[in-house]
Amino acid sequence: MSLRFVLDPELTDDLRERIVALWVDVTNAGGAVGFVAPVDAAEVRTIADPTLAAIADGPDRLLLGYDGDRLVAMAIFTDPRFHLKTHLRVLTRVMVHPDMQGRGFGEALMREAERVARRLGLAALHVTVRDGFGLDRFYRRLGYHEVGRWPAAIRVAPGDDRDEILMWLDLTAARQDEPTNS
Ligand SMILES: CC(C)(COP(=O)(O)OP(=O)(O)OC[C@H]1O[C@@H](n2cnc3c(N)ncnc32)[C@H](O)[C@@H]1OP(=O)(O)O)[C@@H](O)C(=O)NCCC(=O)NCCS
Repeated sequence: MSLRFVLDPELTDDLRERIVALWVDVTNAGGAVGFVAPVDAAEVRTIADPTLAAIADGPDRLLLGYDGDRLVAMAIFTDPRFHLKTHLRVLTRVMVHPDMQGRGFGEALMREAERVARRLGLAALHVTVRDGFGLDRFYRRLGYHEVGRWPAAIRVAPGDDRDEILMWLDLTAARQDEPTNS
C-alpha cells in the first residue's frame, strides 16, 4: 500500500477540519507537533488557523498524504521569510496518523518532500526536532544531519526542558542512490 500525495490542495472548510483532526490525533498519541497532549480541536486551531492562512495566502506550501480518500499524513514547507534564505525551506508539522505509523509512510512522506524540494530547486531542507523522542533517528535515516541545538529551548512541562535539535538535508550534493555521470 502506498500513499497518494497532493501538493498545494485547495483548503476547503472540510479539508481544514480534517487537518485539525489529524493534528489532534497525532498530538494525543504523543507526537511532537507543537503541542503537548492532551489537546482538543479548539486548542489546535489556535495554531492551525494561522498556519493554514499562511498556506492559503502564501508563502508556505502544504503536502498531504492520502490512503484512498483518507488524509493520513502531512508536512508543511515553511518559507524562512527572509530574502537571503530563499534557497531554503523548513519542513514543519511532519506527521502520520498514529494508526498508520510504522508502515513506512513517514519515510515516503519525507522522500516526497525531498522530491518536491529538488523540483523547486531548493538548496536545503531543514527540520527542528524535540530531543528525547528518538525522532532525530528518523531524520538521520533520511540523510538529515544534526547541525546544532537550541539548548533546553522546548519546555514540555515545568522542569522538563528539551533541546531543540536543528537538522539539515543538503540538496546540492548528489544523492547516494542516484547514479553519477562519471
Ligand atoms: C515521525 C513520524 C512522521 C514517522 O512516521 P512513520 O510512518 O511512523 O515512520 P516510518 O514507518 O516511515 O519509519 C521509518 C523509520 O523511522 C523509524 N522511526 C519512525 N518514527 C520514529 C521515532 N519516533 N523515533 C525513532 N525512529 C522512528 C522507524 O522505526 C523506521 O525505521 P525501521 O524501518 O528501521 O523500523 C510519525 O511517527 C509521526 O507522525 N510522529 C508523531 C508526530 C511527530 O512527532 N513528528 C515529528 C515532528 S519533528
